Formats: sequence, structure tokens, C-alpha cells
Amino acid sequence: MNNYTSINDIDNINSWIADAKQIKANPLKDVRLGLNKTIGLLFFNSSLRTRLSTQKAALNLGMNPIVMNVSGDAWGIEFGDGTIMNGNTAEHIKEAAAVVSQYCDIIAVRAFPTLIDKAKDESELVLNAFKKYASVPIVNMESATGHPLQGLTDAITISEHSKKTRPKVVLSWAPHIKALPHAVANSFVQAMHKMDVEFVIANPIGYNLNKDITSNTPIIHNQTEAFKNADFVYAKNWSSYDDYGQILNTDPYWMITKEKLNTAKFMHCLPVRRNVVVEDAVLDSDSSIVIQQANNRTYAAQLVLKKILETL
Ligand code: CP
Repeated sequence: MNNYTSINDIDNINSWIADAKQIKANPLKDVRLGLNKTIGLLFFNSSLRTRLSTQKAALNLGMNPIVMNVSGDAWGIEFGDGTIMNGNTAEHIKEAAAVVSQYCDIIAVRAFPTLIDKAKDESELVLNAFKKYASVPIVNMESATGHPLQGLTDAITISEHSKKTRPKVVLSWAPHIKALPHAVANSFVQAMHKMDVEFVIANPIGYNLNKDITSNTPIIHNQTEAFKNADFVYAKNWSSYDDYGQILNTDPYWMITKEKLNTAKFMHCLPVRRNVVVEDAVLDSDSSIVIQQANNRTYAAQLVLKKILETL
């Protein structure tokens, strides 16, 4: 595998899940695979889980991780072609990506969307510029439209915790005070399409995700109805896709409660705002598997890095 930038890079999700479970059972088995190899983790945005779990995954493979907060610490990077660089950007992506490629065997990038310019966000300007101008494999640590390390993690977690051969999984929109990206939800949808699950999405009117991604997934605007017989409820806020980046609804009714969850397991990518997205009674109960889910970030990342290292 050359790059891991989308859930579509997973050829067989069941085989990937099985591989990830083996890695989890023996995380240091391949500790020599990445010896003398370096991974550069470039963050244009904040992170706790992705930053630490990807470093941990690299260390488990014997790699040397180097990390940079690009937005805060590097020169401002220009992505426009032919731009007269007499503004705030001091270095072009053509040089930046080529130079980092001299130091690293793999480059991983986090770059969130603007949530203002839909066309620019959907072009995946930053991620695709690294793919174009770097000479080493690229890993997506959450881009404008996808979070494939999270999506793979979520698939592993559902497989681990499912008591049925075909569980019912609900992706539910939940309230938030800020306009958030669609990346986690998009990758979760794509991951569920690859799994043998009964999958539905619950969201308020005006919050349908990109229909090119949701495809024929049932979208239900009544959360209570959607949650009936659910085995897993995955909560996530996202801003409107059609009315791009806007907050149309803050109705607290959509917060996940213990009563609505019933016997389902609760999932969230984290970080999560308590008593806005989900009430304490859920997060503090055995119904919540968010900590186990976050733990699986390491093994998802380790599987991806292992697959790339095997091709170097
Ligand atoms: N879920 C996730 O990507 O967490 P961070 O933003 O903390 O990396």
C-alpha cells in the first residue's frame, strides 16, 4: 500500500480487522519492521488521540516519529500554483513536501476543512498537495472530508464488541456549540458500508451528509425511531452539508441520553462535550465504549503503517 488517505484504500475490511486484532494481541511482534525508518506527523490542527496513538503505533513498529505543529511552528505554507508570494506565506508546498520527504519515509498529515469554501474543502487541497509533491507515502490523520484512521478504528471496535453476526448500527447527529467538519461521519459511513451491519443515520432535517457518500443508507429524522433495536449508537456532530458549514439546529433533544440509548453501546470518536453531545449517565456507564474505541486508534494506525512499511 502506497498511501492511506481514505477508507476506500481498505481492500477487505474483515481481513484488516482480523489483522488489527492480531496486532493488538501482540503489539511488539513487528518491532524491527520499522527500524531506521522515520515518520513525520504534521499537524495543521489540534489533536490528542491521533497524535499520541500514531506515535505509539510507530514506536511499536520500531520507527522514529517526529512531530510538528505546522500551523504554529513552521513557516506559513502556500498551496496556490503560480501565486506571487508577497503575503503571509513564506514557503511553497512544492519545497516543503519535497524537503520533508528527505527526512521521512512516511508523512502523515492532519488538515481540517475551512467549512466556508465547499469546493476547496472537497478538493482536499492540503492532503492532495502532499500526495502530489512528496516522494514518500502519505497517511491521512484527518483531512477536510475524511478521517480514515478513525473509521478503521470504529470498524475494529464494533467487530470486537458485537454479540450478533449483523448488528444494528446507528450514526446519530448530536448537538454542538461549534460548526464541526463532516470527516469523521463520512469515514464512519464508508466503513459501515464495507461491513455486514444494519446501518441507519439519524439526523435533523437540513443535516444530511453528502449523498455521494451516504448513498442508499436510510436517513431517519426521528432519533427515537432510529434507535429502536440498536446495538451501537455512534454520536457525532457535524455542520450542515447542504447549507455548507452552517449551524441550523442546537435542539438539546438530540443529545444522547441513557433512556434513549436503552441497551445499545455508545461510541464517539472523542473529544466529546459532556451534557451537550451526550449526558454523563451514558459516558459514566458500562454502555460507553469510547475509551476502548480510543485504545484501538493505536492498532488501526499500526496496521496502516505496517502495510506501508512492507512495501518500502
Ligand atoms: N478522534 C480524534 O481524532 O481525536 P483527536 O482529534 O484528539 O486526534
